[in-house]
Amino acid sequence: MRRVVRVLTRAPSNIALIKYMGKKDAANQLPDNGSLSMTLDRLCSFVELSIGAGTSDPVEWLPELPEGAPAHARVPELEGPGILKVRRHVERVREAMPSLLEAFGLGASGDGASRQPFVLRTANTFPQASGIASSASSFAALTLAVAFACARDPDGFNKIYLENKSLVRALAALSRYGSGSSCRSFEGPWVEWEGEETHGVTSGLPELRHLVLVVSEKLKRVSSSQAHLAVKTSPLWQGRVERATARRVSLKAALALGELATISRIAWAEAWEMHSLFHTASQPFSYWEGGTMDLLQWLAPAMQGDSPPIVTLDAGPNTHLTCLSEQLEHWKGRIQRDFPGISVLEDQPGVGARLVQVQ
Ligand code: PMV
Repeated sequence: MRRVVRVLTRAPSNIALIKYMGKKDAANQLPDNGSLSMTLDRLCSFVELSIGAGTSDPVEWLPELPEGAPAHARVPELEGPGILKVRRHVERVREAMPSLLEAFGLGASGDGASRQPFVLRTANTFPQASGIASSASSFAALTLAVAFACARDPDGFNKIYLENKSLVRALAALSRYGSGSSCRSFEGPWVEWEGEETHGVTSGLPELRHLVLVVSEKLKRVSSSQAHLAVKTSPLWQGRVERATARRVSLKAALALGELATISRIAWAEAWEMHSLFHTASQPFSYWEGGTMDLLQWLAPAMQGDSPPIVTLDAGPNTHLTCLSEQLEHWKGRIQRDFPGISVLEDQPGVGARLVQVQ
């Protein structure tokens, strides 16, 4: 058994085709409706956690690149409230770990390491405001890092983590308290979140590629917490849970059969509906920039084709496009030709949060 002194984890972001928008129970972070997302791969967060590294603060976050993260990764700009949210989540996971470990026949760190100060360094491989949920990837990577730091036998813990989906899902449920959508970043590629539970969803689709079309890197003015409340003031909120649920059921069936045109149609309708909720709230707001509308109108005709791309937007101005891998060059070429100024991030479906190193 070795004493853990440093842990490095990585977790990808995920993009929802059926959105989590609206909380049924804010204290327990329970959504009004179930959601379904695709886990990404290289668009991810890294968290480095060092134990007892000379600080008196129980949880200290340093604005430095984690050792072992790729050089192009960026350290997020975290201020007071953001740092506090991180600290609270670390404490929450630290509290929960002994009984969670015990439930899986694993021991908690016996030398008190889990009670020693933690020093954190975090980074994302994508720009903070690029329309990719950095809170999903960062809280998933953070939850996993704290979990490893609390385990007596990190290698045994990792073995079970890689084999046993119940452990993965128990950690996902814990992560949900830090950021709701982070619970979908623990497995992949397709994940459904309903109530307190997450699980994988079968897909019959061939190999896919993912593009994020970044029209703006401005920080969003309305946080997702504010959006979860505001949508309920829209007249379109009525019937929302039923519509999202019906779409989720249809999406799962279409995914299992690999019916791309149906998947694409459902995702397109769902993205427009979520943004319509924002646009029709009692105090209307929009995440869109001029470039968003240009892109959506440019993409609309492609939605009628036989193998359309899957297009969606998060709570931001940037557009996500998932296509068959054989169509990647076609889409990149068309985007470069018609939107030469736009920056495009490239990714693919992934497997979820993983340990990178433990020492
Ligand atoms: O996890 P939160 O509270 O940041 O909410 C995420 C909400 C959306 O990203 C807009 C939709 C989703 O399901 O990911």
